[in-house]
Amino acid sequence: MEKYSINEPEALTSSVQNSLLKTKAFVNGQWINAASSKTFDVTNPATGELIASIPDMNREDVSEAVDAAYAAWPSFRDLTAGERASLLKKWYALILEHKQELATLMTMECGKVLQESLGEVDYGASFVEWFAEEAKRTYGDVIPSHAKDKRIVVIKQSIGVVAALTPWNFPLAMITRKVGPALAAGSPVVVKPPSETPLTGLALAYLAEKAGFPPGVYNTVTTKDSSEVGKELCENKKVRKLSFTGSTSVGKILMRQSASTLKKLSLELGGNAPFIVFDDADIDAAVKGAMVSKFRNNGQTCVCVNRLFVQDKVYDEFVEKFSRAVAELKVGNGLDKDVQVGPLINQKGLDKVQQHIDDAVAKGACIVQGGKPLEGLYYTPTVLSNATSDMIIAQDEVFGPVAPVFRFKTEEEVIQMANDTDYGLASYFYSRDIARCWRVAEALEAGMVGINEGLISTTVAPFGGVKESGMGREGSKYGMDYFMEIKYLCFGGIS
Ligand code: SIN
Repeated sequence: MEKYSINEPEALTSSVQNSLLKTKAFVNGQWINAASSKTFDVTNPATGELIASIPDMNREDVSEAVDAAYAAWPSFRDLTAGERASLLKKWYALILEHKQELATLMTMECGKVLQESLGEVDYGASFVEWFAEEAKRTYGDVIPSHAKDKRIVVIKQSIGVVAALTPWNFPLAMITRKVGPALAAGSPVVVKPPSETPLTGLALAYLAEKAGFPPGVYNTVTTKDSSEVGKELCENKKVRKLSFTGSTSVGKILMRQSASTLKKLSLELGGNAPFIVFDDADIDAAVKGAMVSKFRNNGQTCVCVNRLFVQDKVYDEFVEKFSRAVAELKVGNGLDKDVQVGPLINQKGLDKVQQHIDDAVAKGACIVQGGKPLEGLYYTPTVLSNATSDMIIAQDEVFGPVAPVFRFKTEEEVIQMANDTDYGLASYFYSRDIARCWRVAEALEAGMVGINEGLISTTVAPFGGVKESGMGREGSKYGMDYFMEIKYLCFGGIS
């Protein structure tokens, strides 16, 4: 019981006086209310307490933000790459300068433990730094001509206004991963953070204002009505690119809505990550990898392990060691020292966890560890053995602290099991056989593969998925391309 005690968060009210707590939206360089003056509440999932009430904007409000971004586009894209890079570097420095306040705000609105929020500030800031550097390297090409009197040149140009629709599970890093390359490319942005965690997004807007981005270049709109506002951003012709991180079902709606304007899309959607442990693996390393991959942000990331596959010979050993490690996790308010697992984001998230567990148990799974709700939005980290492919959890992302362990016999069988899903975002496996490492890495249908590694997210590598996990890549040297258009120039009459 002691491990799961939920302590009173210290100095909660003083953290609300965080200088980065902004309660208005940011459009065209102004802090504004919704035209209707409507607001909605943002609450702390750890305690249920109200943190702030902020503007509940509608389609018309958002259309005005798009107009402001569109008006700011010509002069912003005409800045030199170096000038845009230095604005980004100022923003980067300000984000790091306010690391503690940003992390506190993030933990308060999304429940993530403070240590992880601090890590997310570094992770998020690193995209700003990376794309400040990439801004100066958006090279084109000179192509050897097909005709003596012609010369062929390729240039890359800003795509135009970018809408960034971001999720609650990474309130900071998913904004900077989209906005960093957009701004570096000379594209103004309209950011719509989720209604659960808009405050970190507003704090980022405030720091962007302080960094000196011209009015209209960086806008943040807030709303409770994500579907209407999302529709406006899809259907508005002045928005040339929409980048979304969230569920596959919402991604499909956005794609349908974007058809009328043939908007360019980047979609980072759901996952159903397999984590395979072969019998030649270092089991202790695999347990460590599974812990970090499964329980990062309380299982609420799209690259979290959803299905653990363990080979027959090492199944019992793995389940025993893994369950012991899971039993040690301390659950509580993310602001409390030593807490490793916070609350679920909301009741819907908690209910889903319980439904997946109930379904699995009804179909023959055994609860080896956890399996109980706690007070509020907390759930005991759970390990299920004897998982089978007919269980809901085999196909549906649980997005919570539940680890089902499946048994397999051969490499062929587990590759088939791992790929038996509509998703293809992250995947992981542990083996010490180098030939098998190549074979399995190539056979897994996923955009990212961790080989003897459970934590794969980094600025320098391309993040994204295949199949119904989406399209496009974020971060890395590839990330800029999704915010630029390629133009080919043909110079004729050269004699
Ligand atoms: C996500 O879950 O949406 C992103 C996770 C990451 O960047 O590691």
